[in-house]
Amino acid sequence: MRWLGLGAVLLVVGCGPTPAAEYGEELFGDSKLSESQYNTFSCATCHSTAATPPQGKVYAGLSLHNVASRPHWWGGYETNLLDAVNFCYTAFMRGVTPLTPDDPKSRALYEYLVSISPDAQAPAQPFTLVKDITDVPRGSAEWGADVYRAACQDCHGEAHTGKGRPSKLAPILPEVAADYGVAFPGVAPGLVFIEKVRHGRFFGVGGNMPLYAREALSDKDLGALLAYFEL
Ligand code: HEC
Ligand code: HEC
Repeated sequence: MRWLGLGAVLLVVGCGPTPAAEYGEELFGDSKLSESQYNTFSCATCHSTAATPPQGKVYAGLSLHNVASRPHWWGGYETNLLDAVNFCYTAFMRGVTPLTPDDPKSRALYEYLVSISPDAQAPAQPFTLVKDITDVPRGSAEWGADVYRAACQDCHGEAHTGKGRPSKLAPILPEVAADYGVAFPGVAPGLVFIEKVRHGRFFGVGGNMPLYAREALSDKDLGALLAYFEL
């Protein structure tokens, strides 16, 4: 528990859901937590809170069950929980000003995260970033269609049409790759696609899409997705 300046809040831990935790749960599912009018993501877009991985759904982020009981976050890059949250808030949710410890919204969110952390201590979760992009073997296109629905469709809408996507800022897949040959001459479009999925907006790639670590999406699932998209 390393949310600096929140000592007083710790006193309520273990007393069941508090009104603040309930407000925090609302904020967790609310894209309006971010002040940016272009943001359509809430914490719940990318994180489950379940103790066991949900079936039929692939989240970019880890489950936040027991998150407040972990010793560090982001594979050890973050040693303060608020910083770990602010990473998502600014990088993905287009938040301009990071959440501060004494902001009532941060406090409520923190209490909610504590309320979904029943164990006093929990192990840090592995987070394996794929830094060097290499091609992956293509898998089953049928499987790839399932991967698309489970991992990408919430934000990108239906494949080939984008139907149902919450924001047009997320391009239609795989059609967006049609320009890759011109934009990235000499690089196979499949590789550009893999880089986007593995790096999100990092390592020179722009945007606000989350990255997928190996734990979130295996190379096998990625290969199936590429087969489905004939990339
Ligand atoms: C667009 C997707 C996205 C959104 C929105 C998002 N996150 Fe994340 N978050 C990630 C990814 C990807 C990671 C890195 C993988 C991981 O550790 O879960 C991450 C990591 C984290 C971690 C570190 C977990 C650990 O143990 O390493 C915390 C804590 C966290 N997010 C909390 C939040 C909270 C709270 C919100 C809402 C304010 C939020 N995130 C919004 C994608 C997102
Ligand atoms: C949380 C929402 C979200 C999820 C989930 C998501 N994306 Fe995205 N994606 C976006 C947004 C927003 C953009 C446009 C901004 C950007 O490029 O980051 C984007 C852009 C892209 C691009 C285009 C990059 C370009 O400009 O050429 C590709 C390719 C892509 N996503 C693939 C995927 C795949 C494959 C998945 C599933 C494994 C996925 N995305 C899941 C939100 C998401």
